[in-house]
Amino acid sequence: MSKTPLLIAGNWKMNGLLVESIQVMKSLRSHILRKPLRNSRLVLCPPATLLRDLAEKIPGTGIRLGGQDCHQAKSGAHTGDISAAMLRDMICDYVILGHSERRANHGETSQLVAEKAASAHKEKLTTIICIGETGAEREQGKAKDVVKDQLLATIPKSSNHKNTVIAYEPVWAIGTNKVPSEAEIKEMHQFIVQTMQKELKQFEKDVAVLYGGSANEKNANKILSLDAVGGLLIGRASLEAESLWEILQIAETVGKK
Ligand code: PGA
Repeated sequence: MSKTPLLIAGNWKMNGLLVESIQVMKSLRSHILRKPLRNSRLVLCPPATLLRDLAEKIPGTGIRLGGQDCHQAKSGAHTGDISAAMLRDMICDYVILGHSERRANHGETSQLVAEKAASAHKEKLTTIICIGETGAEREQGKAKDVVKDQLLATIPKSSNHKNTVIAYEPVWAIGTNKVPSEAEIKEMHQFIVQTMQKELKQFEKDVAVLYGGSANEKNANKILSLDAVGGLLIGRASLEAESLWEILQIAETVGKK
């Protein structure tokens, strides 16, 4: 599979106030203007409150913005929700969907995630669809079954290799500093690609599969060097410009090979 450009997506979750976040963006901007990214692409997914201000800082950098969720409807009586059209309006190109925190904290089912993804595709957003097993499911030997079920139930008919990126995020690795072995990541990523090619007609071509869960500047090289890994979805290590920049530098080197 072609590795370039490696996708490095920063999921800021519910972190970031205006002044500090603009500072992070300014630092990233000056790094990138000095040393443009050639083999990797940076997608930042900040809280929706920051999108407009960060959007002003990205021209000329190649940085893309993404939302962290969207509602399945285009508009309407959905207090507190944000639609895919609203993300597009804020010049987003991406949206993270089905993150395990939303599945756990907001009861999101794979079917709902599929509806959200279909709505995002109508707005020409690329969906970063998250799947992954819990620690208990892995211990019980069910990791592949869970991932396969989530994958097949979460991907709508509108998905294809251009508008869909899968993020494999084992729930037990998120925010824990526990990372699967390289062999485990490789096995699951290959399984995801094979399952998609076998079961979903529209995925004859390889789809990018990101790894997420305690990825940082120390383990990025090993993870990104694995053949089946098309990039990273990063939480904590994306909050600081310097750690994110270090990871991007690693992606630039790995992506060149
Ligand atoms: P983490 O989060 O890098 O802080 O583990 C990853 C994620 O939840 O996307």
